Amino acid sequence: MDQTMRTFAAELFAQGATYDAAEPDRLRRLRNLEPETAALLAMVLRIAGARRIVEIGTSNGYSTLWLADAARATGGRVTSVDVQEWPGVVGNLARAGVPAERVIADGGDYLRGLPDASVDLLFLDAERVEYESWWPHPVRVLRPGGVLAMDNVLSHPAEVAPVLALLDADPEFTGETVAVGKGLHLAVRRAP
Ligand SMILES: C[S@@+](CC[C@H](N)C(=O)[O-])C[C@H]1O[C@@H](n2cnc3c(N)ncnc32)[C@H](O)[C@@H]1O
Repeated sequence: MDQTMRTFAAELFAQGATYDAAEPDRLRRLRNLEPETAALLAMVLRIAGARRIVEIGTSNGYSTLWLADAARATGGRVTSVDVQEWPGVVGNLARAGVPAERVIADGGDYLRGLPDASVDLLFLDAERVEYESWWPHPVRVLRPGGVLAMDNVLSHPAEVAPVLALLDADPEFTGETVAVGKGLHLAVRRAP
C-alpha cells in the first residue's frame, strides 16, 4: 500500500473509531477491522495470488479498501457484500480509487448463488452467529488452494466455535488462528 492510500486508510479508520465511540447500538457501528489485521489480510491476498476475492461485511469500505488495493497487485477483483448500504461507502471507495464491486445482499444468499470453486479468497466479517447457517457454501465456493479468512475469532470464541468445528472436521482444510487484532482465522483448502 502506498503512502497516500495508507494515509487515507488511517483517516477512515480514525473516523470510524470516533463514530463508533458515540454509537451505543453495536449493529449501527462501523466496526472496522483493526489496521494490523487488514494489513495481514492484504498480505495473504498477495501471497496467495488471489484474484477472485469476496468479502462479506462491507461497512464503510475500510477493509474493502485494503483488499482492493492489494488486488491491484494480483490483477484481481473484490466483490464486497453487505445487507445494507452504509452512508459514505461509495465516496470512500471512489476517493481511494480502488476497483471494487459492491453487492447489497445477505451474505449467505450471495454465497449460495456462487458456482463451486469460483473464489480464491473469502473474507467473512459479518454477524458471526450466522456463518454456520451458510454452510457448506463458504467452503464450497473456494477453489483448491483458496483461503477462507474470518475475523473476531479470539474476541468472540463462542460465536465462531460452530464454524471452526466445521472447518476442523473438513479434511480439505487446514487452519490457524493468528493473534492479531481480534483474532484472524485463516484456513486454506488443500490444493489438488
Ligand atoms: C464488522 S462490520 C464489517 C466491517 C468491515 N469489514 C470493515 O472492516 O470495515 C459487519 C458488517 O456486516 C454486515 N452484515 C451483517 N449481517 C450480514 C449478512 N447476513 N450479510 C451481509 N452482511 C451482513 C453489517 O451490515 C456490517 O456492515
